[in-house]
Amino acid sequence: EENHRESLLIVTGYAAKFFQQSLWETDAGKSIALSYFKERGFRDEIIKKFELGYSPDQWEAFTSQALKDGYQQQFLEETGLSVKRDNGTLYDRYRGRVMFPIHNFTGRIIAFGGRTLKSDKNVPKYVNSPESEIYHKSNVLYGLNFAKKAIREEDNCYLVEGYADVISVHQSGIENVVASSGTSLTVEQIRLIGRLTKNITILYDGDPAGIKASLRGLDMILEEGLNVKVVSFPDGHDPDSYVRLLGSTGFKNYVNQNKKDFILYKTNILLKEAGNDPIRKAEVIREIVESIAKIPDSIKAAVFIRECSTLLQIEERSLNTELNKIRQAKH
Ligand code: CTP
Ligand code: MN
Ligand code: MN
Ligand code: MN
Ligand code: MN
Repeated sequence: EENHRESLLIVTGYAAKFFQQSLWETDAGKSIALSYFKERGFRDEIIKKFELGYSPDQWEAFTSQALKDGYQQQFLEETGLSVKRDNGTLYDRYRGRVMFPIHNFTGRIIAFGGRTLKSDKNVPKYVNSPESEIYHKSNVLYGLNFAKKAIREEDNCYLVEGYADVISVHQSGIENVVASSGTSLTVEQIRLIGRLTKNITILYDGDPAGIKASLRGLDMILEEGLNVKVVSFPDGHDPDSYVRLLGSTGFKNYVNQNKKDFILYKTNILLKEAGNDPIRKAEVIREIVESIAKIPDSIKAAVFIRECSTLLQIEERSLNTELNKIRQAKH
């Protein structure tokens, strides 16, 4: 079993080296992929640190090299690097994509995300590795191996949506950053962070999908007993694009000045949606109290009830009545 895992890890490690060589040492890699990374503002140092690469735009470039180098077909398939045709031959899953290796906690490469360089809407933007014996995506946070030390030191973890967000934010000097890439946030991922810090700051995309995901994530984080803050970005921006817009120092200032605790963040969003409709406003209050009801620590919950009371101009007593109703309904 351990041998099997190790065989898979050797193959993914080999593939990462192959994609890196293709990026740095081939004409196509340099002219198409390296220039793409440069245009995104990724510097050489960060490209090397995150072991980014390029998959040649051919059907079998990787697979045939790997077979030639003695790697077994079985492991190429299991890691998802190669895909089997009906006639039994293999082709490359990743073709003409910039490659983001996904590392485990100890820094071994377990999977890949490959981004297209085309702007064709019919081509999937990202192709990700399938689940395998070494890659259970619900248990993995992109960038955690590069972030763990800073997360402990800063006693906070920034949570973003995408690969490029992790890399740009890390490059800006904020190294305690991870992404739940390719999946919506899971309880396992929150527990992974919870071993390093009890404080999470969500930095999701400023589009409707990002806002929706942040509200869902926030409740899950509260339920796990962790503290959560949120920084929002204007629609159309994500942390990566915002670092490029503001520069490293400007971005850091923005984050520090726009950190909101979850109640303020959620209240602002819901009240904006509710407009002047009093019935919908009452609904907002209930939804906020529902988030507070998820907090396992009752003293903490009481503090947030007080804050909610001030923010929404509602008596603490009626908020507590509501809180108790929700809690009783759950038991
Ligand atoms: N994602 C994915 N498959 C897709 C789209 C997105 O796996 N078809 C994952 C990727 O991990 C991606 C993250 O969700 O990084 C966030 O998606 P999105 O905001 O659409 O992409 P960005 O990371 O912003 O990508 P880019 O800046 O390169 O356009
Ligand atoms: Mn096995
Ligand atoms: Mn998005
Ligand atoms: Mn982006
Ligand atoms: Mn994005």
